[in-house]
Amino acid sequence: MADSFYITTAISYPNGKPHIGHAYEAIAADVIARFQRLNGREVRFQTGTDEHGLKMAQKARELGMEPRALADEMSAHFIAMCDGLNVRYDRFLRTSEPDHHRASQALWQAMKANGDLYLDRYEGWYSVRDEAYYDESELVAGEGGEKLSPQGTPVEWTVEESWFFRLSKYQGQLLTLYRDNPDFLLPESRRNEMIAFVSGGLRDLSVSRTSFDWGVKVPGSEDHVMYVWVDALTNYLTGLDYPDKTGLFSEYWPADLHLIGKDIVRFHTVYWPAFLMSAGLPLPKQVFGHGFLLNRGQKESKSLGNVTDPMELADRFGVDVLRYFLMREVTFGQDGSYSPEAIVLKSNAELANSFGNLAQRVMSFIAKNCDGGFSAESEPTETDTALRSRVNGACRIELPEAFERLAFSNGLEAWMQAVFACNAYIDEQAPWALRKTDPERMRRVLATLCGCIRDLAVAVLPVIPTAASAILDALCIPEDQRDYAALTTDPAAGEIRVENPAPAFPRLELPEEAA
Ligand code: MF3
Repeated sequence: MADSFYITTAISYPNGKPHIGHAYEAIAADVIARFQRLNGREVRFQTGTDEHGLKMAQKARELGMEPRALADEMSAHFIAMCDGLNVRYDRFLRTSEPDHHRASQALWQAMKANGDLYLDRYEGWYSVRDEAYYDESELVAGEGGEKLSPQGTPVEWTVEESWFFRLSKYQGQLLTLYRDNPDFLLPESRRNEMIAFVSGGLRDLSVSRTSFDWGVKVPGSEDHVMYVWVDALTNYLTGLDYPDKTGLFSEYWPADLHLIGKDIVRFHTVYWPAFLMSAGLPLPKQVFGHGFLLNRGQKESKSLGNVTDPMELADRFGVDVLRYFLMREVTFGQDGSYSPEAIVLKSNAELANSFGNLAQRVMSFIAKNCDGGFSAESEPTETDTALRSRVNGACRIELPEAFERLAFSNGLEAWMQAVFACNAYIDEQAPWALRKTDPERMRRVLATLCGCIRDLAVAVLPVIPTAASAILDALCIPEDQRDYAALTTDPAAGEIRVENPAPAFPRLELPEEAA
């Protein structure tokens, strides 16, 4: 379908509760999904949990649980996180579900039919933490001289019979893919890394395990389970009812965007396209590897004791505030840093004191002084028109163009500049002073501002859906006029009505630890 848009997040290992990185990715994907819906696209948004593999099996054993019970318990926290953060997915997929086993086996059969799977013996290094095989040459030395993966995780020497995938055969096709489709992998720095990695030569990949059984059974080879990344990546197809290629699959495959963290780019841009080429399926249009979110510049870890529960941040500061902060503060694609103080300062300065104050000043003034509604009869002045076109341009063109490129902080910067322009206009026009001296001019000023507030609220809906909808409700903007296409109309031309305006953003207290 020409106007369809399929976006996915990585699916998370439910071996513990979600942390801030999971929330960041889910929020970013949700912002993109909502943005594309407002752009008129037919959006499908999938997220979920990656429940198989050794990491899950070991964690369950450590806790004295069955892996399935651990997955049930923890995936519920991931679902609750999405729901709590207003992340509106179309499917939350769990890889332990039967349709996912069927899809993974179908993909396996397709790769087998193409002659790309063979039985051999694996001897090499494996990191359970990364669920990844590493070459001797990639390992680094730890503090005590022990061998570690390039991510700094422990590796173990593994010897077992295993199915192999002929990855080596796809080197040329992968390099052609990166060369001919510069947007396949973004940001560009990640693309250069992958070109270097693939140019260095590819070994065939071990794609099954026999030493444990928590996974998808290899068809015809029942003592093997698939390597967890083979089944995990297939989730993107399962959610479209693959191997049935008629319904959702025909509408939404290939995916428009796989949004993932920068640490798993290799799996998504080397293994995944090679599997798909082998199975004769079209390749995703884009993989974007976002950066990490640091807590005051440091990676969160249990040993540092700085792990933050994203739901606590949301409860403390508000869901919209957290969403806004993450999209505004961090240059998407790079690493970013957060702290409670930074969230409070950003939210107070931009949401409460700028956008919220603008909306509330104007709407409460109308509610009090204009019987809640009016029409402006006088012609707009040049100043009015200049403000309208400035704000409309930021909301209808600049922000959407930036969001289309996933440059969220730039889009929000253009938006914030438009908010500042409105606040400067209010101070300069002082509508409260016009109430007695020139009520008609006052109405024109207020109408101009209401047009601007409508534009600003619609534009930012993907980021702060609850607050922006509340403002649009108070402005009596009909539901079917809350998208980018509707921003070509001017509400200031008709009757303006305001109902029960309430402040959309609280002023937050600076946390004590900072004061
Ligand atoms: N569970 C993996 C991780 O957290 C991500 C899997 S994404 C998938 O690193 F698409 F492969 F499933």
